[in-house]
Amino acid sequence: MTVRVLQLVKLGVVYRQLTTLDFSILNAIEKGMASHEYVSLDYVERLVNAPATRVERSLEKLRNLKLVKGWGESYRGFRLTYLGLDILALRALVKEGVLEAIGDKIGVGKESELYRARAPGGLLVIAKLLRIGCRSFRSTKRTRPFVKTPQLNWYAQSKIAAEREYKALLELSKAGGLVPRPYAWNRHAVVISYINGIELYRRPKLSDPEKALMDVLETIRKAYVDAGIVHGDLSEYNVIVSAENERAYVIDWPQYVEKDHPSAPSLLKRDVGYIVRFFNKIYGVHLSVDRALSYVAGGGELQ
Ligand SMILES: Nc1ncnc2c1ncn2[C@@H]1O[C@H](COP(=O)(O)OP(=O)(O)OP(=O)(O)O)[C@@H](O)[C@H]1O
Ligand SMILES: [Mg+2]
Repeated sequence: MTVRVLQLVKLGVVYRQLTTLDFSILNAIEKGMASHEYVSLDYVERLVNAPATRVERSLEKLRNLKLVKGWGESYRGFRLTYLGLDILALRALVKEGVLEAIGDKIGVGKESELYRARAPGGLLVIAKLLRIGCRSFRSTKRTRPFVKTPQLNWYAQSKIAAEREYKALLELSKAGGLVPRPYAWNRHAVVISYINGIELYRRPKLSDPEKALMDVLETIRKAYVDAGIVHGDLSEYNVIVSAENERAYVIDWPQYVEKDHPSAPSLLKRDVGYIVRFFNKIYGVHLSVDRALSYVAGGGELQ
């Protein structure tokens, strides 16, 4: 675990050491992995169209950087590591002009790792690398009701989740919800705006807690009424209060369910229940869960 953490801290450093040939080799291995568990040296050489000695030298470097595993340990061939896949997603986002530079890791969630990054124009953004199904399967199952195919590997699940998060954030932004703005997604990565603030679970001092709760309920209502989705994992851990204006943003959407999903009513109830009770317990805001629930489902005004 420690080794892995050290590797990830170095993501930007590793990225900057790679040449065009290194990236082509990583791409070739990824391609081969679509149909084979291990990719042979022959296959890589054929795809990258470079002299064998250069390919082998590059593979040695990629292995030392822990982007590839297999060579020397296994006669079967190569595989990409987590880090190799992360690098490919980031590389694609840089090539598309979405990202300019990869910065420090800012967090590790149950199902993701987040990096600060710079977009063109100096804008600070977040690159969220999804890791669905890598950790506890039980917790995945609890918070990811949409995952109907547990036989999919973590990478396939994470790609689906990244696309889902991007699309949900796009719909929600269009509907005027307070959520991070999505910029792009690639493979298992999604790029979103950075919210300079403090997570609600840290219990920030709020000058107007009712307003913060209304922000959250308003976003959940827009999600339900306008975008037709239910967050499905709402709690004080997935709300960030902006340090600039105390507006409350709802983050972490890949597990959302469509409102006609059989679990939607119970998830909506659970989401609203958690957040209303949290504001009641910590900030003394009085609002019944039933009233909040009927409001987010499209009922009349709350105040
Ligand atoms: N747009 C953002 N701006 C600033 N910080 C963010 C943003 N998105 C996420 N974070 C930080 O990263 C943490 C994890 O993000 P997120 O909840 O999206 O991922 P997760 O893998 O589901 O994490 P968890 O399992 O903790 O819920 C958040 O608690 C927050 O501290
Ligand atoms: Mg979260």
